[in-house]
Amino acid sequence: MSRIRAVILAAGKGTRMKSARPKVLHELCGRPMVWYVVRALRDAGVAEVLIVANREVAERVPVIAGDAGHDAVDVVIQEPQLGTGHAVQIALAKLAPRSGTLLILNADLPLIEAALIQRAIEARNGALALVTATMPLPSSLGRIVRRGERVAKIVEARDASADELALDEMNAGLYVYDEAKLRSAIAELGNDNAQGEYYLTDTVDRLVRDGERVVPVLADSFLSVMGINDRSELATAAALLNRRICEHHMCNGVTIADPSTTYLEPDLEIAADVTILPNTTIGRRSKIGAHSEIGPNSRLLAAEIGEHVVLMDSIVSDSTLGDFVHVGPWAHVRGGSILDTGVHLGDYVEVKASHLGAGVNARHLAYLGDATIGERTNIGAGTVTCNYDGKEKHRTKIGKDAFIGTNSSLVAPLEIGDGALTGAGSVVIRDVPPGGRVAGNPAKPLPEKES
Ligand code: UD1
Ligand code: MG
Repeated sequence: MSRIRAVILAAGKGTRMKSARPKVLHELCGRPMVWYVVRALRDAGVAEVLIVANREVAERVPVIAGDAGHDAVDVVIQEPQLGTGHAVQIALAKLAPRSGTLLILNADLPLIEAALIQRAIEARNGALALVTATMPLPSSLGRIVRRGERVAKIVEARDASADELALDEMNAGLYVYDEAKLRSAIAELGNDNAQGEYYLTDTVDRLVRDGERVVPVLADSFLSVMGINDRSELATAAALLNRRICEHHMCNGVTIADPSTTYLEPDLEIAADVTILPNTTIGRRSKIGAHSEIGPNSRLLAAEIGEHVVLMDSIVSDSTLGDFVHVGPWAHVRGGSILDTGVHLGDYVEVKASHLGAGVNARHLAYLGDATIGERTNIGAGTVTCNYDGKEKHRTKIGKDAFIGTNSSLVAPLEIGDGALTGAGSVVIRDVPPGGRVAGNPAKPLPEKES
């Protein structure tokens, strides 16, 4: 395939969303709507993409394109926004003319798939290949008016007659043009219609009247080309996309107990034989190793989870869990924490920016922040690393095989040596040497053990 170019129309106000945020930046499954269109174009092998955007959208384009994995996405600003035809005029003014194929897509088609884009590219054998679908009525979408088998024109719902409104073939908003023919047709657009806008769709009538060939490409399902114009359609599309992502992982051997209450984003790495239980959200490129069980009622964001991990009713963000770790119920691990193999966190334990060595136990009610804890150390219920003195955060270092008694307050900066012990209710304000035993408030060394 030669280097095909595409234009995404993403400058519209999206008034039907009733939002301060531009429509195409509204998210589904953790990604903005327009992200999915860029990703589908990448997957279809479309080499260059130009996005027609308003200022707010334009600012976000580099990050969105990078995250979607397309390295040749440019942007042009359309201001004011005078309709889809006007948007294409702006794009054509920016693009140096070439012969051959030019794709135009609406940005509000997050369910679009690469295969349909490829089918449309291959179907063009004249001025235009136009993707259409049969849809449920009533509908506010543009209608395909045919004369016999041939496409005659597209009529927008607001400009349609009663007979035309009864037609159930819709214009999907994905067009494959012969660029030179598009350039000549678009020059003649008017805005004499119900919305006073320049409609890209009027080029169809113009091309047909000039005797050009317009090929319809019927999509298998209306849902794959569903245009999102309001929040209800956004929710419908998000559920469909989520289901699609769940199917992908189930096909790869992941058990998802209830896909309708499992919320996944694109680009997760989930190994075979992982089980995901209901009411669980997994996003921001999290990775999960084989045989782990995640959920119910859990959230993983930018989490790296090892194999044979059990995580229930808990939240893990920006953190790494080794193999055989147990978290939950009701635990929160965050801020770049690392839990080595076999760490066990139980009910109501929060871990922030801490490194817990292999086999550390903190089974009930603890706050471990800015701490480094050695292997096999036991953290008693109610232990708190007092890491904040009102101005700054300080670190706590605890050695291996230590025993931190119930309700210990460890006032940082603090170092507790290997094998040390703090008694129940200790307020530890001074370092404890290896093997040291302290208790009390403030904690003092205990008398030597009688043998
Ligand atoms: C459009 C089509 C309609 C089709 C439907 C499919 C036109 C006139 N109508 O209607 O036939 O059935 O899509 O979903 O094209 N945009 C701009 N600049 C503008 C206006 C819009 O970039 O000045 C962008 C929007 O951001 C959006 C896309 O173009 O991504 C389509 O605009 P929208 O207002 O959603 O058009 P529809 O009414 O859905
Ligand atoms: Mg639309």
